Amino acid sequence: MLKLILVAMVFVAVVHADTNSCIMRRGKKMRTFSNTKERIKFPCKYNAVRDTVCGSYKVTVTPGNAIEADKNKRYIVKTMFVGVERISDGMKWEGRSDLKIAKKFLDGSKDAPFNKKDGALETTDVFNFGPTTEDDEVSLIEKNNEFEVVFGLYMPGDTWHRRSGFQFNCHSANFQPSGYPDQICGNGTKDEVATFKKANDMKDSRQAVLFHQVFTNMGVVQTNSDCLTTSRTMSNKCDGKEFEAAQQCWQVVGKKRFHRCVTKNLEVPESAMRHCVEYVCSNYTDLNSCHALSDELDGCQELGDISMKVKKHCAPDLAIKS
Ligand SMILES: *[C@@H]1O[C@H](CO)[C@@H](O)[C@H](O)[C@H]1NC(C)=O
Ligand SMILES: *[C@@H]1O[C@H](CO)[C@@H](O)[C@H](O)[C@H]1NC(C)=O
Repeated sequence: MLKLILVAMVFVAVVHADTNSCIMRRGKKMRTFSNTKERIKFPCKYNAVRDTVCGSYKVTVTPGNAIEADKNKRYIVKTMFVGVERISDGMKWEGRSDLKIAKKFLDGSKDAPFNKKDGALETTDVFNFGPTTEDDEVSLIEKNNEFEVVFGLYMPGDTWHRRSGFQFNCHSANFQPSGYPDQICGNGTKDEVATFKKANDMKDSRQAVLFHQVFTNMGVVQTNSDCLTTSRTMSNKCDGKEFEAAQQCWQVVGKKRFHRCVTKNLEVPESAMRHCVEYVCSNYTDLNSCHALSDELDGCQELGDISMKVKKHCAPDLAIKS
């Protein structure tokens, strides 16, 4: 069986030289459709692909990131949502996988690597599935091989956890990607992020722009409560300070020195991210988020203007590492 799939995969790779791919590896390194490198470092869900036309379907791929719990504090892709809509009749299929579901499929104790969540189409109407050529990945392969979604498992103990990630490969000539920022995989144009930043007068880092986009994009329903609150605060309660919040707060989860330090304080990086956003969005007036941040950031390096503001406003004892 495995051999057969292997042969099929090689055959496909040879026949479809013009495959459009968006690939995520090692939990955070993305190669978009235009082959641009993107760093994805926030512990929440985001639209990698959203309503992109591939062959007979519109496809949405929404991964959910998590910060790995061991001392290394790296990123892993923990959940995968896939939604497809058949263009000819509007019929849908939605499904979800995560590390446990995928592992059970690989172990033989489940007969599909994704659980169907919704839609009139049956899983077997649309997909074949299987492990790929690698035994720590699972995949949904469209029956006529128009596209596939691969979900790579995180291997505890594998120092590089290199397969934690996903791939969306469209083999069809009918490929019409949605644009950035609706989908982080982009529309296949090389400088789309630069163009977007210029058009929106955002001169800052890609990371800050990404953070801003993900948490003001109402197309994604966050499930983690810190992610949900971050998203609601950025979208509805920020009063023009959204980009400032993104600039200041992405680092809490995007830079190891901060999320490691927060964890060392026996606090949770996701909560620190949320409190940071709440604090900035309140124009630095909210005492609750100020106090919470002072516990989370105590003894950490200076975080933009935030550390000094917290110290002045609510926590004169806050230690800032130089
Ligand atoms: C992709 O996005 C860029 C930047 O927004 C835009 O200039 C370009 O026309 C788009 N390309 C396609 C094929 O839609
Ligand atoms: C935010 O606070 C500053 C300083 O306290 C104040 O000057 C400014 O008007 C406030 N901005 C908003 C939007 O409330």
